[in-house]
Amino acid sequence: MTITDEVRSEGDRVVIFDTTLRDGEQCPGATMTFEEKLEVAAFLDAMGVDIIEAGFPIASPGDFEAVAEVARRAKNAVIAGLARAQPGDIDRAGEAVRFARRPRIHTFLSTSPVHMKFKLQKEPEQVLQLVTDSVSRARNLVDDVEWSAEDGTRTEFDFLCRCVEAAIRAGAGTINIPDTVGYTTPDEYRDLFIRLRQAVPNSDQAVFSVHCHNDLGMAVANSLAGVAGGCRQIECTINGIGERAGNAALEEIVMAINTRQDVLPYHTGIDTKMLTRASKIVSAATSFPVQYNKAIVGRNAFAHESGIHQDGMLKHTQTYEIMTPDSVGVSKTNLVMGKHSGRNAFRSKLKEMGYELGENAFEDAFNRFKALADRKKHVFDEDIEALVDEKLANAADRIKLEAMTIIAGTMGPQAATLTLSDEGGQHRTFQATGNGPVDAAFNAIKALVPHEASLALYQVHAVTGGTDAQAEVSVRLEDKDGRAMTGRASDPDTLVASAKAYLAAVNKLIARGERLHAQQAAG
Ligand code: KIV
Ligand code: ZN
Repeated sequence: MTITDEVRSEGDRVVIFDTTLRDGEQCPGATMTFEEKLEVAAFLDAMGVDIIEAGFPIASPGDFEAVAEVARRAKNAVIAGLARAQPGDIDRAGEAVRFARRPRIHTFLSTSPVHMKFKLQKEPEQVLQLVTDSVSRARNLVDDVEWSAEDGTRTEFDFLCRCVEAAIRAGAGTINIPDTVGYTTPDEYRDLFIRLRQAVPNSDQAVFSVHCHNDLGMAVANSLAGVAGGCRQIECTINGIGERAGNAALEEIVMAINTRQDVLPYHTGIDTKMLTRASKIVSAATSFPVQYNKAIVGRNAFAHESGIHQDGMLKHTQTYEIMTPDSVGVSKTNLVMGKHSGRNAFRSKLKEMGYELGENAFEDAFNRFKALADRKKHVFDEDIEALVDEKLANAADRIKLEAMTIIAGTMGPQAATLTLSDEGGQHRTFQATGNGPVDAAFNAIKALVPHEASLALYQVHAVTGGTDAQAEVSVRLEDKDGRAMTGRASDPDTLVASAKAYLAAVNKLIARGERLHAQQAAG
């Protein structure tokens, strides 16, 4: 029994066909290595994707190998290989997917007037014959064949019906009508499927499928409309990557179905808690960043900064969240502290950080926080810590840089000699080497002021233009419990600014350690 038979017997089950490794990988700049493709495929399989389109085997030996290896390793998913309506393509796809427990060949052919005339340079009758020939050839290789009418949404309806009927007669179990150029609208797409399924005499023998591109920003809406029109397979990609403006985003489709069961009474086999991780894996593999405000998986999808929203969220999460962060694998809602945050959120943040302030001290800290947030784009926990903890605020120059000499250049190892003074005025000097002068300077500080924290960020910024520009350096250190401290310093000498910034962060870490120690001693 193929997946097509399973779906036909279960009315509200929607099959998720992921084409991240084919349509997604096909878009400019998203190429993945063999290993990255295997990692993505394994994750999709574990996440419950029903069909993984692993590539276009005829495209290159690398593509063929990747599809074959994904096919060998897949545990549950059907593995599909794409093929044009040409014998060589179809045979190569069949060869690649034959290792899969559940192989599929996905063959496609353009059916719109503009594609037939200019791209294929074929008459409609020739195209119709090719539909039958290609599907029959694929069916001789595997039981599960999908046929796609490329540019289906710009195809004349009667001709589309004839092609679909021919494909089903030749043995295609899935009929995909792609909106190849992202042209259709939800109502139009839904009606197209309703009409097609009524007009094609053998339509009950196939599962209909949507495949939408996002050129007008309607890919997800169109896909869901297609399901309303009777489709039970959705082709989509993680993070919506794909040709031009991309494909419909898998995570958006799945969460729309999960969240709006009242109007979308379907179900998928996806473990939604794996969606955020899937997004990160694909983003890292393709080097395509995920936009901050991307639905479901963007870093702001569960972040709130406005005072009104934060206040509402603290009273009841459903005030501003229609799904829980946990449901997509995010550990918790992020109340971002910034200039829009109100008293309630600030109080809750302090509590979370272990501070219980009296009313006056709280008002004082809140006013200082507002003043800081006006000046600073990102207010980190350690900034808040420094606001309420005077000792911490003044800690930056307890241990000072007195002198520094650097040996840099092409002949390594680079070395730094640093002299530091402590609060008692005592001087100590140390020379260290490193992988570059900055590393050498940091190693010298670490030897003089031993600590466990590791470097989480090192950023240099030129305050003005020109070679005499003042360098502004930020250093962020993180201790083993994940608590961070940032140090900043500026100097016309970048290396001096770097050492001072590192030292400022170390000083704050020491001050915080002392405070925590005193708190513990006081019980
Ligand atoms: O967009 C499209 O038409 C396609 C087909 C190959 C299915 O990706
Ligand atoms: Zn496509």
